[in-house]
Amino acid sequence: MAETNIVWHDHKVSRAERSVNKDQKPCLLWFTGLSGSGKSTIANALDVALHERGYHTFLLDGDNVRHGLCKDLGFSDADREENIRRVGEVCKLFADAGIIVMSAFISPFTSDRRMVRKLFPAGEFIEVFMDTPLETCESRDPKGLYQKARSGEIKHFTGIDSPYEVPSHPELRLDTSTMTVDECVDSLIGYLLDRGLIS
Ligand code: PPS
Repeated sequence: MAETNIVWHDHKVSRAERSVNKDQKPCLLWFTGLSGSGKSTIANALDVALHERGYHTFLLDGDNVRHGLCKDLGFSDADREENIRRVGEVCKLFADAGIIVMSAFISPFTSDRRMVRKLFPAGEFIEVFMDTPLETCESRDPKGLYQKARSGEIKHFTGIDSPYEVPSHPELRLDTSTMTVDECVDSLIGYLLDRGLIS
């Protein structure tokens, strides 16, 4: 049962004051999309590009987080929801520390993505929908998981026998079947500059 006798303590140092680099505002770039859609590749490339320009960043990735914080979770709908809830809270902590955060999780359910969005002030949650067609993701199959899903060796695989709810109003939409990695990164950096999240 959830504890009730707990009181919130406000910090004396604000989010903005905590930022080491005053040319950046904390925010979360939430990469969502099918397995093989390019979430990790593009998030990593953006991480490198921002890091090289001197911004303070951090990246959380589904496969990695599932080795530790979420290693008790599988791929049922309920476990995916709990996965995203935990990850959202961790992303918020990093943003509270003044950092530009990137996350790469399939996050197939609209309600879970909305739950994370609500943790952030307006404009600081940026949903990046990796809109790469399933056929492309499946033909890449970098981990051989689509093949296993098609043969029934893996159950509840997103896009095959588990749903992916397409974002209706993502802040950004990227398709790695038609855009290069550099084009995706340019688009993301342009977005951050336009919104004054980096300068
Ligand atoms: S979720 O839906 O957001 O909770 O998933 P996530 O934490 O991002 O983990 C996705 C990675 O787990 C691997 N994997 C699966 N994905 C989808 N469905 C099933 N059943 C599954 N089993 C294992 C897969 O490598 C995913 O990584 P990516 O980078 O998306 O390919």
